[in-house]
Amino acid sequence: MLGFSFLRCYNKFYMKQFPHNFLWGAATSAHQVEGDNFHNDWWLAEQNHALREASGQACRHYELYAQDFQIAKELNHNCHRFSIEWSRVEPEDGKFDFSAIEHYRHVIANLKDQGIEPVVTLLHFTNPVWFSQKGGWAKFKLQKYFLRFVNKIVGEFAGEVKFWITINEPLVYSSHSFLLGAWPPKEHSLFKTAKVTLNLANAHIKAYRIIHKIYRDKSLNRPMVSISANLQAFEICRPTLKNRLAVYLRHKLYNLYFIDELKRKRTLDYIGVNYYGRNLADVEKWGIKHLLLDTCPYNHHPLRKNSLGWDIYPQGLYKLMIALKKYNLPILITENGVCTEDDNLRWDYIREHLEELFKAMEEGVEVLGYIYWSLMDNFEWDKGFGPRFGLVHIDYRNQKRTIKPSARKLAQVAQSGEI
Ligand code: GAL
Repeated sequence: MLGFSFLRCYNKFYMKQFPHNFLWGAATSAHQVEGDNFHNDWWLAEQNHALREASGQACRHYELYAQDFQIAKELNHNCHRFSIEWSRVEPEDGKFDFSAIEHYRHVIANLKDQGIEPVVTLLHFTNPVWFSQKGGWAKFKLQKYFLRFVNKIVGEFAGEVKFWITINEPLVYSSHSFLLGAWPPKEHSLFKTAKVTLNLANAHIKAYRIIHKIYRDKSLNRPMVSISANLQAFEICRPTLKNRLAVYLRHKLYNLYFIDELKRKRTLDYIGVNYYGRNLADVEKWGIKHLLLDTCPYNHHPLRKNSLGWDIYPQGLYKLMIALKKYNLPILITENGVCTEDDNLRWDYIREHLEELFKAMEEGVEVLGYIYWSLMDNFEWDKGFGPRFGLVHIDYRNQKRTIKPSARKLAQVAQSGEI
């Protein structure tokens, strides 16, 4: 009796056992790893020297994917998130490149042959040049082109794919590309940002319905369709009214706006969550811009940081999971990761986030899986190749892959389900 209760106690406090069907994996996105994505708006901006570095050959994953998936298998991953590059599949308006479609068919088949569940993103920040030259996401009527692509791709792969992510981080895209001017098309317009955001929400709703219809027409089991929402843990620096209001507004707008909208339209089968860390609000002056953007410029309430200076805050993941409970939808962590040269920090980051995730699961949050960002070091958008998020190190001089110790530790967890 004593032994049994001791064991129960031990299990409760020390051994964290994830469900046996939990998804364990890592993510990439096409432009960040494939290389030579000639036909998209990022490539064009890179050639025009509008960005710090050009993606170039990136990790040559377009050719080396089989080798990379072998590594994922060796690391006990049972799922893998990647994106299908729209500009490869449709390099010219209405002209589909069948060799690109065949390529992605092989990619999916390769994963499935190894028992790795594909989690497929349809839009991960990059657009075909022809689409952006017509006006891109700033024009409502152009979403029909994205929906045509969705229809094509899902029509091809419905039988093979269960998990779809229509759009990666819609708000990050609209704000970086149309408000902050950091990403192509490098605009600074609040009006356009709002328009793009609404357009993306609408595109998801329609894409969701298209995807479900294709599955119904083919008499396939219901797919799981969502977006990947970038969630941040908004915290106050000083306990002022401005700061409290800022945190409230940011959480409502940046974290929940999209999820609320899509849930209301019944177009989410799960919630895809990308979580990296804390945003410490410290608002100097009244005004909407300050309330939405000001962060503490001093090192108040210091935390460990990644190599881009972002605050590492595992407790934030727990808090967000609890905040999402009200939606009554399963959650898939579609990105969580750290860029660092210190691989011990990477492992601490992963372990601590998994512990917080587990805590939320013990409190009734349904979590389907954990996907680390990223399988390998890659092209980190406007930051170039400097930040290293990968479980696998890439030597960009010769494309050599080297598995990092943190990846092996995560592999043990994926195998045993225990942390
Ligand atoms: C996410 C994005 C990824 C990756 C990651 C690390 O916002 O979806 O593409 O860049 O951040 O910064």
